[in-house]
Amino acid sequence: NQLRTVVQAMPKAELHIHIEGSLEPELIFALAARNGVALPYASVEALRAAYAFTDLQSFLDIYYAGASVLLQEQDFYDMTAAYLKKAEADNVRHTEIFFDPQTHTARGVAMETVFNGIHRACQDSPVSATLIMCFLRHLSEEDALSTLEAATPYLDKIIGVGLDSSEVGHPPEKFARVFARCRELGLHLVAHAGEEGPPAYIESALDVLHVERIDHGVRVLEDAALTARVARERIALTVCPLSNTKLRVFDQMKDHNLVQLLDAGLVATVNSDDPAYFGGYMNDNFIATFEALPLTLAHARTLARNSFEASFLPAEQKQRFL
Ligand code: HPA
Ligand code: ZN
Repeated sequence: NQLRTVVQAMPKAELHIHIEGSLEPELIFALAARNGVALPYASVEALRAAYAFTDLQSFLDIYYAGASVLLQEQDFYDMTAAYLKKAEADNVRHTEIFFDPQTHTARGVAMETVFNGIHRACQDSPVSATLIMCFLRHLSEEDALSTLEAATPYLDKIIGVGLDSSEVGHPPEKFARVFARCRELGLHLVAHAGEEGPPAYIESALDVLHVERIDHGVRVLEDAALTARVARERIALTVCPLSNTKLRVFDQMKDHNLVQLLDAGLVATVNSDDPAYFGGYMNDNFIATFEALPLTLAHARTLARNSFEASFLPAEQKQRFL
C-alpha cells in the first residue's frame, strides 16, 4: 500500500534501539543450542507466547532472561548483524545502538567480548552504526562507576552513555556522579525518562545529568512549563510507539500522544526500542502509528528530518541527510 511505500522510501535514523531487544526468539533458541544453555521455554512458540506484557518490569524480566544465551563474541556479533540487516531493509541510514554491558558482565561475560562482538558487526554493516553504553538504573551508582571503569579500554568504540531499565524509584539523580564523569570524558549523554516515570525525572535528567536527548519522554506533556522548555531547547524525544502500547504506557495506538508531541513543537522521533519483543522494527513503528493516528505526510517528513537532526552524527554528515 501507499503508506508502506512512502515510509520505506524515507531515509531515516534510529536513535532508540536496545540491541538485546533485537534478539528474536529463533536466534535465542539457536544461541542456546550453540552454547548449551537451558531455556525455561519448550519452543520458539512457547517463548513468543510469554511476550504478554503488562508494564515495563514484566517486559524487563523476560528481556534479561533472553539475553542469558549471549556468551561468546560471535553471539554478540550475530545479534547485532541481524538487527543491522533489518535496519538496512527499512532504509535506516544511521543508527545509534544501546547495549547493556552489566546484563552480561554480571553473568561472567568479559567486557571485551561484549564490546568486540557488537562493534565488529557495526563496522561490517553498510548502515552507519554507532554505540551508546547504557547503565542499568535498578543497580547502584557504584556498579555503574565500576562498569565505566571496566569499559575504559573500549571508550573509543562508543559515542555516549545512556540510562535504562526499571525507571520508577530510580530517578536520574541516583546517577549524578557517573554521568558527571562521562561528561568530563566528552561522551554524549542520554537517559530514559518519562516513560513510566513522572515529568520530574525528565527535568532532573536535563538539569542534574545534563543529557542531550530524552529517551521516551512521552509524559512530558503532563507539565506545560517543561514541555515549553524542551521544545525551546530542541531537546529530542526518542519515542517508541509499539513499545508504549505493548508496555501499556498507552492502552492502544489510537491513544498515543505522538501528534500532540509534534504539535507542541517538540523534536519527536520514531524508534523501535526492543523490536523483537514489541512486534516490529522501524517501518512497522511508522506504519502502526500512521494507521492509528491523524498523522500526515508532512509529519512523516518532520519525523525523518528530526531523526537526523537529533542524531550525534557530525554536522557535515547530518547535512547530507537534511
Ligand atoms: N525502558 C527501560 N529500559 C529498557 C527499555 C525501555 O523501554 N528497553 C530495554 N531496556
Ligand atoms: Zn528503551
